[in-house]
Amino acid sequence: MATTLVDAYARIHNYLRLSLTAKCNFKCTYCYTPDVKPPKAVPYQFMLRLVRLFASQGVNKVRLTGGEPLIHPNVVEIARAVKSTPGINHLAITTNGLLLHRHLDGLLDAGLDSINLSLDTLVPAKFAFISKVDGFQKVWRSFEECLGKLKSIKLNCVVMNGVNDDEILDFVELTRHNDFSMRFIEFVPYTGNQWNDKRFFPYKNIIETIEKKYKIERINPQDPIARYYQIEGFKGSLGVIASITEPFCDKCNRLRITADGKFKVCLNSAREIDLNEEMTDEELIKVVKEELLMKPKEHGGIKNMIGNGNRPMISIGG
Ligand code: GTP
Ligand code: 5AD
Ligand code: SF4
Repeated sequence: MATTLVDAYARIHNYLRLSLTAKCNFKCTYCYTPDVKPPKAVPYQFMLRLVRLFASQGVNKVRLTGGEPLIHPNVVEIARAVKSTPGINHLAITTNGLLLHRHLDGLLDAGLDSINLSLDTLVPAKFAFISKVDGFQKVWRSFEECLGKLKSIKLNCVVMNGVNDDEILDFVELTRHNDFSMRFIEFVPYTGNQWNDKRFFPYKNIIETIEKKYKIERINPQDPIARYYQIEGFKGSLGVIASITEPFCDKCNRLRITADGKFKVCLNSAREIDLNEEMTDEELIKVVKEELLMKPKEHGGIKNMIGNGNRPMISIGG
């Protein structure tokens, strides 16, 4: 019988995000950090051992992240092993989609339940400007290919003032006939990611932009991270992730393992501890539980996120 991973504020952690690699085939302006060399990844067999251990402690959902998880040579094998771990009932992936055409069938066969696909623009030239890869068509085709094949599909758009805020309504229109969730994400500062307050486009402005044209109604209010909305008669839904202006730390249910085997209890804190292959299962569970009790109540707002010594986003995986 699985126990639960509870922190000092009674938050139950049932969701593990596994960064398979800190490398990426894109160089998104809001994420990529040129000066930082990706750390060496631990063997994936160790990652799978950690998944089994976390599952024995009550984790039931795993998300594969990166960098870009699909560049890991064993991604489908990892997906299959994670999904067949006793206790894991939801397997998800967050990807930029460039290699999805190669792996979608394998991932579906491995038991993938949901995909979050990063897509910050519908304009091919802007896509190339943001990601430094001329890949819009490939990603778009993969998005279309996914529709109807998974329990949930979400598009992630990091909204940047003066870059893609003019496309919010175009993205909203996509939900009229397609069953997926269109999510707009506040741009968060991480080490080296070119964040500045002039590029910031807050949640309230996102909602205001949408409400100028559509009537939206809040749905799924219990979701710990995103605020979800629906437009009457539209097949899909909308979501906003307001990490900066409306933090949701009180509902946090996530734990993270970085590609180099560090355990992070908070995305936005620099704290992390080493998990290594030499440790016994009992030792690993003990340090995980001890670290979880040190989890901060909240990240303390934007002032604490800038220059706090946290890793760059590319090596956390979101
Ligand atoms: P699901 O709810 O399982 O779909 O996952 P998600 O939406 O959290 O995952 P995804 O990888 O698509 O991340 C979307 C955005 O949410 C990214 O900008 C992440 O950085 C952000 N995010 C994910 N987890 C957390 C978290 O624990 N805290 C904060 N502040 N942001 C998070
Ligand atoms: N702020 C907000 N979201 C970000 N992501 C990457 N960098 C940032 C940032 N600075 C998003 C990506 C991806 C998810 C894992 O995190 O768009 O969809
Ligand atoms: Fe790569 Fe994703 Fe970061 Fe873009 S957001 S550089 S796709 S890891």
